Amino acid sequence: MDRQVIEALKQRLNIVDVVRRYVALRPGGGRQMGLCPFHQEKTPSFSVNEAEGFFYCFGCQAGGDVIDFYQRVNGLEFKDALEQLAAEAGIELKAYKPDPEYDARQQLKRRCLDMHGVAQEYYRRNLNLAVGDAARTYLRRRGMNDEIVAAFGVGASPDDWQGLATFLRGREYTPEEAVQAGLLSQNERGRIYDRFRGRLIFPIQNLSGQVIAFGGRILTDGEPKYLNSSDTPIYKKGEHLYGLFQARQAMTRSKRAILTEGYMDVLSLHQFGYKDACGVLGTALTQDQVKRVAGFCSRMALIFDGDTAGRKAALRSAEMILQYGVSCSVVRMPDGEDVDSLLQKHGNEGLDACLDAAQDGLDYCLSVVREGFAPREIVSWANGFLAHLADNSLRPFYIPRLAQGLGLAEADLRRFGGGQGRLGGSGPQGPQGRAFAHQTEARPSLSGGVAQRMPAVGRDERDDRYFLRFPIQYPEYIPELARRGFERLLTTDFGQALWRKLAQVNGGDVLPLLDAAEKSFWTQTRSKEKPEGDELAQEWQHVCRRIEEAGVRKSREELMEHIRLASSQGDAVEVKRLMAALTDLNAPSREEE
Ligand code: UTP
Ligand code: MN
Repeated sequence: MDRQVIEALKQRLNIVDVVRRYVALRPGGGRQMGLCPFHQEKTPSFSVNEAEGFFYCFGCQAGGDVIDFYQRVNGLEFKDALEQLAAEAGIELKAYKPDPEYDARQQLKRRCLDMHGVAQEYYRRNLNLAVGDAARTYLRRRGMNDEIVAAFGVGASPDDWQGLATFLRGREYTPEEAVQAGLLSQNERGRIYDRFRGRLIFPIQNLSGQVIAFGGRILTDGEPKYLNSSDTPIYKKGEHLYGLFQARQAMTRSKRAILTEGYMDVLSLHQFGYKDACGVLGTALTQDQVKRVAGFCSRMALIFDGDTAGRKAALRSAEMILQYGVSCSVVRMPDGEDVDSLLQKHGNEGLDACLDAAQDGLDYCLSVVREGFAPREIVSWANGFLAHLADNSLRPFYIPRLAQGLGLAEADLRRFGGGQGRLGGSGPQGPQGRAFAHQTEARPSLSGGVAQRMPAVGRDERDDRYFLRFPIQYPEYIPELARRGFERLLTTDFGQALWRKLAQVNGGDVLPLLDAAEKSFWTQTRSKEKPEGDELAQEWQHVCRRIEEAGVRKSREELMEHIRLASSQGDAVEVKRLMAALTDLNAPSREEE
């Protein structure tokens, strides 16, 4: 099913058009070049091959098709990337997969999104009407400029129980479905009314920029200070971050994400030029949020209050980020200040001083644990930390550091959190780890850096890579190579698996079948010069000869094995016959040399 969709999608979407939204591209060397969004660089090494529909970065070796690009640049799951691109290309996913329940869910989601769009229009409009006076005054008092208010779509809900209800009815939405979308509330007596009243309204957007929920700050002294949307078909608390839509491009450039608590903090940070900031939205940082942000950056700066609650939250948040393999720093605010008040009082200098003084996240965790935990808590913290790593390949990085920092033996740590035996592919254990585990499901994800994940390349794999250049650059030769026994040339699992996939699609689109390392190699190889003319003829002869040699070598090994067997059984006649065959086999290759 997916394959059909992927094929249709790639036919309709031009990879250059999609990439251009995130990367400025210039033609060069028969392709489009730009600054890589997946690593930091000053000269462009990111290439897009429009005709063949793939990208490849000569700097960080990231590579893949338009879906890989979209998935990675937006930090999405494969399914979501496919869904969003399909919607954009006007491809009905359901045409490929009739599923009435899915259709109904999609329909409901679409209605909810549409209603949020209408509500956003209503709140925005109010801000500039007389009913928005209080909100406008408030924003001015808090030092927010028009540009930032517009960029974040800040609005106002008047102190009116039927304002949005009436507005939505005018757009043909029933009060009941607006309740389901979380925009209106219903009391026990069944009466339906506006959820947000007399508040400054902060729209919460998904990565496509659609409004999926709201937060509202009270303008008077009422309670609660902030009211947020509850869970709806399109919004789940703890999955999204405030301002990530506005911040993600700056994040891919700076490779940093500043994480803060409040709505106002995010607005202030952006207004003061920290465009890579976003907010965790009224809950403790969740693993879903870490995953979402990690697609855009390689380090996170956590801002927290210096009090005890803040310290505890920072420990848990830093732990989660580190377990995901992203580095972090912990930025402490002066007593009694939050980012917003600090910026308003002391400007960039005030915050920069805090950022400079930030403590490394791992050091922070280790010092909190070392100083505040009892011995048995220290040991169990360390084991828990290792047991819940998102990716077990991180263990060699953390084990010596935990051992060193906590005064434990590396050998003891190695035994915990899943011994080497059950590491392979089983993923992290326990309820906490499971949230991370599904990142490896479905399609192998690209995020996390292809280059770091690739196993060390030994001599054999280098040989396999060398030979595989031919079928990758000249797929039209695949049937002939297969007929001649190309697979005999390949000695590694990597080489054989890739060859099987190439032979399977036989010149068709192989990218959707490949894992991250294979994608990187395939796109790299397709980006290289191809041998032409005489050089091509020579290459071809060389590969054919090597296949033959590999065949001869194999036959020779088999003959030798038979000779050993026959002689151990004392069958002199058979030994003699086999020796003759061996001489024949060796003869032509000797003449050749
Ligand atoms: P704070 O109480 O620290 O407020 O809540 P703040 O962000 O500094 O807000 P201002 O500056 O007084 O306007 C921090 C964050 O916690 C969530 C909100 O996301 C808020 O921005 N929160 C707070 C709620 O969700 N509900 C509340 O009642 C209070
Ligand atoms: Mn504040």
